[in-house]
Amino acid sequence: MSDSPKRRVRLPELIQKVRDGGQLTMLTSYDALTAPIFERAGIDMLLVGDSLGNVMLGYKGTLRVDLDDMIRATAAVARSTSTVFIVADLPFGTYEADSVRAFEAAAALMRAGAHAVKLEGGEARVPVVETLVQGGIPVVGHLGYTPQSEHAIGGPRIQGRGTEAKALIADADALAQAGAFAIVLEMVPASLARDVTKTLRVATIGIGAGPHCNGQVLVWSDMAGMTEWNPSFARRFAELGSALEDASRRYIQAVESQTFPGEGNYRQD
Ligand code: KIV
Repeated sequence: MSDSPKRRVRLPELIQKVRDGGQLTMLTSYDALTAPIFERAGIDMLLVGDSLGNVMLGYKGTLRVDLDDMIRATAAVARSTSTVFIVADLPFGTYEADSVRAFEAAAALMRAGAHAVKLEGGEARVPVVETLVQGGIPVVGHLGYTPQSEHAIGGPRIQGRGTEAKALIADADALAQAGAFAIVLEMVPASLARDVTKTLRVATIGIGAGPHCNGQVLVWSDMAGMTEWNPSFARRFAELGSALEDASRRYIQAVESQTFPGEGNYRQD
């Protein structure tokens, strides 16, 4: 799907891409500035992730992101794109306690323009996933390091090592049986991601999970080198942060030296 299709990418096409042995491509986006750029590049899916909290809103993590934040970001991504498949995160506190509340939150994200929702957690989420799927809402699961549980987990660290592997496979299986069409695997050993990918009938999308998944996701600002933050599982495909800093320096210098605005930038009368 990297040749920029002119019509909406739909779920069956994503599933077919995986069946054909292709790799799903996903980047986060939270706004109308970046989303059309990634769409033009031919990305399969945009994730309106709750990483919105740390990437865009200046929070330390994802816990303070609320449904209104997610609706606004999802609507901006949807308004500014026309073909890409949009997945929106259900924020912390909107889906864990009961399925009815989860459905209402997911429906609000779908109304804002999402084509699927993502939620964190395994077997405990089965009733919620079933409710959403039965209600016509495609679901992506999220296992391994799940940032909404950072305090329970004890911070970002590899999940599913040793004896934890069996539990993670059971969680993935439960989500797949409940109807999730894909599962994000974050910070798990590559061998475990390979086992889940090989044994279960669900697409896997890795982040810090090695090369054996059915696709990869990155937070766009990590991918584009926007900040100093350089997690080992990401690759900087550009250095946009320093390019922007350099552009800003040259702007400041031009204003201070009165070489901007130049003749072409204004009219005398
Ligand atoms: O919110 C997010 O950006 C995510 C990705 C890290 C998968 O959930």
